[in-house]
Amino acid sequence: MSVQQDIRRLTAPDIRARKNGDPIVMLTSYHAHTARLVDKYCDVILVGDSLGMVMHGLETTIPVTLDMMILQGHAVMRGSKQALVVVDMPFGSYEQSREQAFASCARVLKETTCGAVKLEGGVRMAETIRFLAERGVPVMAHVGLTPQAINTIGSFKAQGRDEADWGRIEEDAKAVAEAGAFSVVIEAVAEPLARKITGQIAIPTIGIGASPACDGQVLVLEDMLGLSPRVPKFVKRYGDLGPGIEAAIRGYAEEVRSRAFPGPDHVYGMRKK
Ligand code: KIV
Repeated sequence: MSVQQDIRRLTAPDIRARKNGDPIVMLTSYHAHTARLVDKYCDVILVGDSLGMVMHGLETTIPVTLDMMILQGHAVMRGSKQALVVVDMPFGSYEQSREQAFASCARVLKETTCGAVKLEGGVRMAETIRFLAERGVPVMAHVGLTPQAINTIGSFKAQGRDEADWGRIEEDAKAVAEAGAFSVVIEAVAEPLARKITGQIAIPTIGIGASPACDGQVLVLEDMLGLSPRVPKFVKRYGDLGPGIEAAIRGYAEEVRSRAFPGPDHVYGMRKK
């Protein structure tokens, strides 16, 4: 086969090989300009279905469609060149059957050229993950709090804070690892349990509201930049961009209204004859 590019992107096997290695750095991005910035510092860019809430103001991720994910996945691929880009499979696009999952994942891989997909669910999705992995679809799994299950779990609450619930979550993580997922996101799970799971399974765990012992960490970009109006407890704000953006918009509005903008530097003169 021929080789088409000079810069080699990280791949799912590269991330799989980071178990017990240097921490995996992952952030979300949904569009080309943020992808360009995230790409400089992160190993993995997640085109999360959180885009439904962040970009579209939805209450949950349930209404997000495959077409929405493919459009933004494509944008993130154009904006990045080094990180592994993982695209979330939206609710309803993979749960019905292994065949439905393969058809949806194949669309995502072909139409975005991303390197992997992510899907939610543990034991119940293990058979599908095996089917996909055996057919060339690298799968990042997602256990613990799975936001697509909001209508059955009732609220976005932390999981495994009572030891009685540990067994179920441990079984989920083991099942996806054994089925061939190359890594697993552990979301909003009691710290000691996330630490225990990380020690128990052979694939990298990527924590979000989980444990510093995880093999990597992920956050939603807009949450850590201070752009999201409400964030869960596990989010650390690394920036406070909201007030800066608002000040810029206020300045623009004032200058347009006072005709201070555009000034001489922002208009085109005539060509000299
Ligand atoms: O959709 C998303 O952004 C995610 C992360 C929160 C892990 O799944």
